[in-house]
Amino acid sequence: MKEKLAAFKAEMGEIWDLYMASSLLGWDQQTYMPPNGAVERSEQLATLSKLAHIKSTTPEVGEALEELKKYAETLDPDSNDARFIRRAKIEYDKATRVPAEKVAEYARVTALAQEKWVQARAKSDFSIFRPHLERIVELRREYADYFKPYDHVYDPLLDDFEPGLKTAEVKGIFARLRPQQVELVKEIASRPQVEDDFLHLKYEDQKQWDFGVDVITRFGYNWEGGRQDRSAHPFTTSFGIGDVRITTRVIENMVTSALFSTMHEGGHAMYQQGLDTSLSRTILANGASMAIHESQSRMWENLVGRSRAFWKFFYPKLQSTFPTQLGNVPMEKFYKAVNKVEPSFIRVEADEATYNLHVMLRLELEIELMEGTLKVADLPEAWNNRMREYLGVTPQKDSEGVLQDVHWSGGMIGYFPTYALGNLVSVQLWEKINQEIPDLDSQIEQGQFSALLDWLRENVHRHGSKFDPQELVQRITGSKIDPQPYVGYLRKKYSDIYGL
Ligand code: CO
Repeated sequence: MKEKLAAFKAEMGEIWDLYMASSLLGWDQQTYMPPNGAVERSEQLATLSKLAHIKSTTPEVGEALEELKKYAETLDPDSNDARFIRRAKIEYDKATRVPAEKVAEYARVTALAQEKWVQARAKSDFSIFRPHLERIVELRREYADYFKPYDHVYDPLLDDFEPGLKTAEVKGIFARLRPQQVELVKEIASRPQVEDDFLHLKYEDQKQWDFGVDVITRFGYNWEGGRQDRSAHPFTTSFGIGDVRITTRVIENMVTSALFSTMHEGGHAMYQQGLDTSLSRTILANGASMAIHESQSRMWENLVGRSRAFWKFFYPKLQSTFPTQLGNVPMEKFYKAVNKVEPSFIRVEADEATYNLHVMLRLELEIELMEGTLKVADLPEAWNNRMREYLGVTPQKDSEGVLQDVHWSGGMIGYFPTYALGNLVSVQLWEKINQEIPDLDSQIEQGQFSALLDWLRENVHRHGSKFDPQELVQRITGSKIDPQPYVGYLRKKYSDIYGL
């Protein structure tokens, strides 16, 4: 049976290679590909994903999995092999429900849609993107229908990002979170605002870039196994455990943008770099879920990067990098500025107190699009109305509203809730880490991040996707995804900053 497993792994390894090749083409598309490459690139991506789909859904794969499933029952259920077989079986059962032509069409449609989204966003013209999004919504609804019966049409989409999680569970978590978070934002709004004008002076592009590089180098991002480039929307991608790449964008009059997005993507990347190498070229060579992935990126970005301890170490360096902008700004003032709470239009620039409200708005709109109660044509208006309702601000143009995120153009409906769930998980993990590393704060003050990264590698990273997200959180913290620690963290932090 061991030989059977080895042969099966070799077969799965080839499929994995096709996916990695697709990722590389996708990375290129978003970084260096000239605009005229878009049409042919979308064909190449469609071909690769079709080949991978055909290869992974043959009757031979199904038969091998039936045999291996029995073998897995004789193994330690937490062993790599048992978990690999389990996950491969789940993915096989999912993939065989969807016709290969549909998979290829989806790849082609989304590759083109991304190009149109870039144009639409640049011109702030939703009509350029609208027909493409309409097709994507249709295709996603068809996709969900392959998984009937479901409790909710959104469940099959969510499951692709959060294995095992149900729409009803997410709604339940958000129903507890939302009122507390809205209340907190209101309380903060009633207090005097902190000053942050100095963050919006002109900060030289290259110096911003270099500072971000220095920060994630100290965090432990491995440059021998990655690189950073520029793209319209920062992202992380990998073509194996040894090649995990990030991108960022630099905005000269917003020094926090590149800096925090570099820490964020660095957090995703260190997760991928920390996978156990024995998982290489298997389906387990990935994060447990997008929420767990976000828990890593948000931890480095916020719990580390927006902490007082972090800036005790890095602020003098930032001041000497930008003496004219920050020379006369005391650290405490800077710390408050990077934690300023202010309802704004752009999710990726949002502060920790309002961030989840951006996410909940998207989740609700996605669910309505999938249920068919909201038409794509009405999306910009629905978006703006809800922004007004939740955050009290109205986007003046679609580029700062409905067109701001890349996800829908890539067909990633079901992804957004993972951002908020990731925030919740980050604080659940953080509480546990601080129990086990009691002097973490003073380590961070000294620019020492190795104990933190080691803890994450040991408890989260090395496992890859062996465990489902709820299972992993339960194993580490003793409870499932829970909004209370996050709310407690926000309240403590902003009570100090805003004197609530
Ligand atoms: Co992220």
